[in-house]
Amino acid sequence: MGFLCFLFQEMEFLGFSLVALLTMLKTVHGHGEGWSNAHATFYGGGDASGTMGGACGYGNLYSQGYGTNTTALSTALFNNGLNCGACYEIKCVNDGKWCLPGSIIVTATNFCPPNNALPNNAGGWCNPPLQHFDLSQPVFRGIAQNKAGIVPVQYRRIACSKTGGIRFTINGHSYFNLVLVTNVGGAGGVVSVSIKGSRTGWQAMSRNWGQNWQSNNYLNGQALSFKVTTSDGRSLSPTTWLLPTGISAKPSVEDSFNPHNPPQG
Ligand SMILES: *[C@@H]1O[C@H](CO)[C@@H](O)[C@H](O)[C@H]1NC(C)=O
Repeated sequence: MGFLCFLFQEMEFLGFSLVALLTMLKTVHGHGEGWSNAHATFYGGGDASGTMGGACGYGNLYSQGYGTNTTALSTALFNNGLNCGACYEIKCVNDGKWCLPGSIIVTATNFCPPNNALPNNAGGWCNPPLQHFDLSQPVFRGIAQNKAGIVPVQYRRIACSKTGGIRFTINGHSYFNLVLVTNVGGAGGVVSVSIKGSRTGWQAMSRNWGQNWQSNNYLNGQALSFKVTTSDGRSLSPTTWLLPTGISAKPSVEDSFNPHNPPQG
């Protein structure tokens, strides 16, 4: 059975941050049936700097591999953060003046909050129950002219095509591990995460915010592994051993992954 194995080097401080690469199954299950109607705007400036960070907790979207192909989702689409990481194909429709041909593919990285002070048809684009995409400006320009401001679109959920494998970024200390899950191929969204120390059983993590998952167990000195369930119900059980909590190190990949590491459950 293939696995990624990391070698650890003990350090003196407790807080650490690590990015582990883990490649998941290549098979993806899309949600790519019909097209639905929505609207799209853009935010964050021409260089997309204002799109960095965001409610999914992905931080710097370039270093996490999302670049500027990102969107914020209205309440109706965001699903309290469970659709963070979901991928959508979007095309501009029914607006001969502003629409450009073709479609874009974006990953959900942020939340577009309601603005209850504004009516749904005049600025309150992200108010429930509206389905709305607030795109990064560079990607918006792929389907419509900037001057449009807001355009009608059609969208469909599609399988995410990510390279490099799912990524766990661990932040925390002895009793608090916060694990950011990014770069998830396939369904893109993650609905549950479990953690296991080398001396514990599997324990469910709770979602703290966005795609940051937390564990309050004392896992110092133990190697960690994770199980992830994506929003299409697929359970991925990678054999990934990460550095013991409270120890910081640069991991070195010792073994290659097995892309057919079977899903559990
Ligand atoms: C963003 O989308 C464009 C157009 O589809 C594509 O060429 C580019 O590789 C994408 N960038 C990333 C980081 O996915």
